[in-house]
Amino acid sequence: MKKYVVITGASSGIGYEAAKRFAQRGKNIVAVARNEEKLAKLKAEITGMVNPPVEVIIKTYDLTQKENIYAVYNSVKDLDIEAWINNAGFGDYCSVGNQNLAKMEDMLSLNIEAVALFSALYVRDFADKEHTQLINVSSVGGYTIVPTAVTYRATKFFVASFTEGLSRELSAAGAKMKAKVFAPAATKTNFGNIANDITNYDYDKAFGKYHSCKQAVDFLMQLYDSDKPLGIVNRETFEFSLSDYRFPYVQKPQTLQKV
Ligand SMILES: NC(=O)c1ccc[n+]([C@@H]2O[C@H](COP(=O)([O-])OP(=O)(O)OC[C@H]3O[C@@H](n4cnc5c(N)ncnc54)[C@H](OP(=O)(O)O)[C@@H]3O)[C@@H](O)[C@H]2O)c1
Repeated sequence: MKKYVVITGASSGIGYEAAKRFAQRGKNIVAVARNEEKLAKLKAEITGMVNPPVEVIIKTYDLTQKENIYAVYNSVKDLDIEAWINNAGFGDYCSVGNQNLAKMEDMLSLNIEAVALFSALYVRDFADKEHTQLINVSSVGGYTIVPTAVTYRATKFFVASFTEGLSRELSAAGAKMKAKVFAPAATKTNFGNIANDITNYDYDKAFGKYHSCKQAVDFLMQLYDSDKPLGIVNRETFEFSLSDYRFPYVQKPQTLQKV
């Protein structure tokens, strides 16, 4: 049976590059995002680049809408999904009191709800299939609070702690699926424009250091190929490392409330 990798946010940045990289490895791709034109460009690029050919299935959906999360999942769940990469997300560089609440609502829906629901659905159906993995894209800001982006960072704390917990849950249950957190630092994508509500964000001016999408996806692939639950960039040195869990964890089940 053909194997597929589902990538949300595949129309731009890290997701676009990741889709190409998985395709080069011979994986069939399910590419999810809102911008159909950019997804079609991705499909054409992969078609022109990869031989033997792989299939690229485009899903044009707005993942801030809960019904679309279920619609996407139900439309792909019968495929042999080897990996699911929850990458779609955006930031907002703004103090909490000044946030545009409509943008904040969308950020909470996309960065948190879509990740949690897709993860739960994928785990429910695929946890006992050999060689499956779920990679949720957090950020180094999912492990450190950074001023001017408190809400965004908190969404990434959710992704990181949720995925570390899920990863431990899967391994405690002896599941075949691995769940992993990818935590990049500044990467030159469309992220800076969206987070600042501008169209000409200059990574050279804003950051002393940043990674290219290609570098970020090199790191993502290292995480994909490893048994570690976390791949994280050091925000001072910009070095990437594979890591064990970072969040504190209650080891004694007798102190838990679930009966
Ligand atoms: N760039 C960085 O510095 C950095 C650092 C750490 C973590 N990250 C994380 O990396 C991930 C990828 O971001 P990126 O840097 O590659 O940014 P990007 O170039 O802006 O890509 C974001 C992707 O998310 C998709 N997306 C946005 N809103 C969506 C929606 N409502 N429904 C469906 N898809 C949606 C976009 O596609 P459409 O617009 O076509 O929908 C696009 O494909 C994000 O989770 C981000 O938080 C980025």
